[in-house]
Amino acid sequence: MLSTPDLGHLTTSDYRRVYEPAEDSFLLLDALEADQVYLRDQVRPRLCIEVGSGSGVITAFLATRVLQSHKTQYLTTDINPHAILATRQTCSHNGLDSSQLTCVQTDLLDGLLGPRDSAPANCPQLDGQVDVLLFNPPYVVTPSSEVGSQGIEAAWAGGIDGREVLDRFLPLVPLLLSAHGVFYLVAIEPNRPADIIQHMDQCYGLIGHTVLKRKAGCEHLSILRFTRRSAVATE
Ligand SMILES: C[S@@+](CC[C@H](N)C(=O)[O-])C[C@H]1O[C@@H](n2cnc3c(N)ncnc32)[C@H](O)[C@@H]1O
Repeated sequence: MLSTPDLGHLTTSDYRRVYEPAEDSFLLLDALEADQVYLRDQVRPRLCIEVGSGSGVITAFLATRVLQSHKTQYLTTDINPHAILATRQTCSHNGLDSSQLTCVQTDLLDGLLGPRDSAPANCPQLDGQVDVLLFNPPYVVTPSSEVGSQGIEAAWAGGIDGREVLDRFLPLVPLLLSAHGVFYLVAIEPNRPADIIQHMDQCYGLIGHTVLKRKAGCEHLSILRFTRRSAVATE
């Protein structure tokens, strides 16, 4: 069993501003651990992106426990500026070389896609280059008015069906994934995971499966995994 990244550097006061890893985060870690051989031997990632990295626990786990490759680059984004600092600290604290990590405060991937000359100089080319894409989005059903903050509320406020942030992100997935790329998504029942899977197939030709499910309190959590039709995971 792979160890959870050490988060001892983050304090209670950090967790007032940044999402503290919870059952949803740990279920995503479990899915990545279960896919370790597939990720290492078949996907062999050169570029991994996590949107909404929060504390950085997911990227730190992927980089320093699952993949452990000096050749892989990691890009994380978060709308919350405190999450950017926490992600950098968590990755560094767990031994990821800073030359492998770029953390950007932005809405989803705003400013990072499109022509090479419009992206920041230190940002890798993204279109069709992303081998592992991760998003544990704000998925809780809330009034739409609660969506769009840059504070801790952004960690959970998902608006209608808990999908307002996610539905803006889904059209980017087919633009980002490499030929053998894989996208992991956390969802709960009110997000209608079966509908997300059908939508990704019909609109973008991406094949999705539920790879892990767990009940945590009143939440029925799922991890959905998507690949291109031509690269359906065979692990
Ligand atoms: C449920 S938390 C997940 C945090 C971390 N990935 C984990 O699994 O523990 C969702 C994260 O998404 C971020 N977020 C919310 N809306 C966002 C947006 N529009 N663009 C980028 N990040 C966003 C939040 O600030 C928060 O850090």
